[in-house]
Amino acid sequence: MDILVTGGAGYIGSHTVLALLESGHRVRVLDNYSNSSPESLRRVQQLTGKSVDVREGDVRDLQVLRDAMTGVQGIIHFAALKAVGESVELPLQYYRNNLDSTLSVLELLDPMGVDRFVFSSSATVYGDPEVVPVTEESPLSATNPYGRTKLFSEEIIRDVSRNSRAKSTILRYFNPVGAHQSGAIGEDPSGTPNNLMPYVAQVAIGRRPHLNVFGSDYPTVDGTGVRDYIHVMDLAEAHVAALVAAQDENCTVYNLGTGSGYSVLQLVEAYARAAGRPIPYEIKGRRAGDVAAVWADPTLAADRLNWRAHRTIENMCIDSWNWQSKNPNGFKVSDR
Ligand code: NAD
Ligand code: WQD
Repeated sequence: MDILVTGGAGYIGSHTVLALLESGHRVRVLDNYSNSSPESLRRVQQLTGKSVDVREGDVRDLQVLRDAMTGVQGIIHFAALKAVGESVELPLQYYRNNLDSTLSVLELLDPMGVDRFVFSSSATVYGDPEVVPVTEESPLSATNPYGRTKLFSEEIIRDVSRNSRAKSTILRYFNPVGAHQSGAIGEDPSGTPNNLMPYVAQVAIGRRPHLNVFGSDYPTVDGTGVRDYIHVMDLAEAHVAALVAAQDENCTVYNLGTGSGYSVLQLVEAYARAAGRPIPYEIKGRRAGDVAAVWADPTLAADRLNWRAHRTIENMCIDSWNWQSKNPNGFKVSDR
């Protein structure tokens, strides 16, 4: 198939582009590089020996989007702003970017004859769940503007899909981590990482002195927060499976996680083993808005998409470390 990937230069997008190319699909990318650089896709093309039609532009620009959608059968829509804390500071920027971009893609699906639409949602839509693991039927809520852009987008997609020829799939990612096993592409956060694994990786490489562990008094195995970390290549492969399956169903929602939770300290231990060096940390107070424990029930994706996450927490840490140690400053040219 010919697939348009919005936000394809970003972390999950670049790994998904690689998986799509390796599955024989032809890929076009539309990205405005607001949180990425052209280097990720240059490396994807080098790794696969296949070319990608890369276009710089904003998904909200209807003319640019129409051109990018011409002749494609499917769209995977990653393009969004994703920093929870920033979304509290700049809510309008988040609503404008994340909602307008989704509306623009939805508006053009039928006119441009696109059959399949895959949307990046997040486990953040489960808020603070009373029961874990969460299934796709668990109650939904959001505690910040970023989370609300995902909740609202899901509702909009449900409404639009009722009267659209295009088949939509909503994928709720748990905590994507790790990197392609080549170490040539990976997560390259700008500024101080908000998320745990990239922060740990920067401590391991010596860019930061220690990790701050946010809270040690949660009702969990060791008092630290528990999450369902999923290898970004497992996640990438789920998108290929979802695109293929999309012809049979409309507006299905899938949890994409492993079904297992790890605490902050368990992840730190696994990373220290992978990197062969200690990860210094200091216990701090809880981070506002954090929940104690969330992990997925991924049964539906296994049953209907025939997809399962199979990479372990060790694989996630080894591949993250391989990327981080080969690219201590991410994609910045001075690294190479
Ligand atoms: P990312 O920031 O690395 O990638 C997003 C890409 O979209 C970037 O390349 C950015 O430049 C681009 N972009 C943003 N707005 C755009 C616009 N208006 N027009 C064109 N390009 C635009 O983020 P990611 O981690 O790869 O996340 C991808 C998607 O998955 C996002 O929708 C995010 O909300 C969702 N998600 C991410 C996580 C996570 O922890 N990484 C978890 C759940 C869901
Ligand atoms: C994981 C655990 C922290 C950093 C966020 C978004 C969510 C989704 C994924 C996009 C928690 C602890 C973290 C640090 C720490 N993104 N931690 N020190 O909070 O589960 O989810 O990213 O959709 O919307 O909210 O992931 O990696 O930030 O935190 O102790 O420096 O690590 O308290 O227990 P989270 P995370």
